[in-house]
Amino acid sequence: MNIILLGPPGAGKGTQAKRLQDAHGSVQLSTGDMLRAEVSAGTPLGMEAKKIMDAGQFVSDAIIVGMIANRIDQPDCQNGFILDGFPRTTAQAEALDAMLTEKALRLDAVVEMVVDEDALVQRITGRYSCASCGAGYHDVFKPTRLPGVCDACGSRDLTRRTDDTVSTVTKRLNVYREQTAPILPYYAAKGILHKVDGMEEIDEVTRQIEAVLAEVRGVPA
Ligand code: AP5
Repeated sequence: MNIILLGPPGAGKGTQAKRLQDAHGSVQLSTGDMLRAEVSAGTPLGMEAKKIMDAGQFVSDAIIVGMIANRIDQPDCQNGFILDGFPRTTAQAEALDAMLTEKALRLDAVVEMVVDEDALVQRITGRYSCASCGAGYHDVFKPTRLPGVCDACGSRDLTRRTDDTVSTVTKRLNVYREQTAPILPYYAAKGILHKVDGMEEIDEVTRQIEAVLAEVRGVPA
């Protein structure tokens, strides 16, 4: 299946996309992760993107659409993909439609993760991850079993994102409201928008998303 996880910063898109990837073999396509890989590699795109991301703004539609178009062509996407952080503007949503039509692919579902914005600052500022394997953690909601040691791979190289400060998160939430929330009606009009309660515990959110996907596939959850 090809799906989009949509929701504001900290809604849990990345957390759930990784779980769906593990459960179904479809590939998580996170434009944020792709941009951070460019930043880590020190490419010209990464250097430009870092300034924009740290300011809480959006990287240009042309760059993002080009990145996704190349990625969807890779063989591992043939089992399906989970778009995490894309599309984020009406122009990106329209470009995705054109891209999928050209590639004879279709979008099966858009899952909106509905959250209380007041909780998101705590979620985001408490987040950290393993620089070696990418496993995600949270100071309160999902700490590592041993302090400072990744549960998944044992690395001690745990890191926090430079855009996860209170002031940048506030800007990112404003940008979400202004530029991304308006694409929800676009998908509602297509009849493929489904809502889940992103304020529930992580396992329960996964259960709700799986129920949506089962309904879309026409099989019992
Ligand atoms: P991106 O990396 O996509 O960030 P984001 O959309 O702001 O989303 P986050 O990664 O912050 O949150 P998430 O929803 O994935 O939450 P998570 O699962 O980590 O983008 C970063 C930047 O890149 C953008 O600001 C922009 O500059 C640029 N960019 C990216 N895509 C772009 C595009 N298409 N166009 C233009 N620019 C683009 O969860 C958060 C925390 O909460 C975690 O610690 C987690 O453990 C915890 N948590 C998750 N679920 C729950 C739960 N149910 N209960 C309790 N805690 C939970």
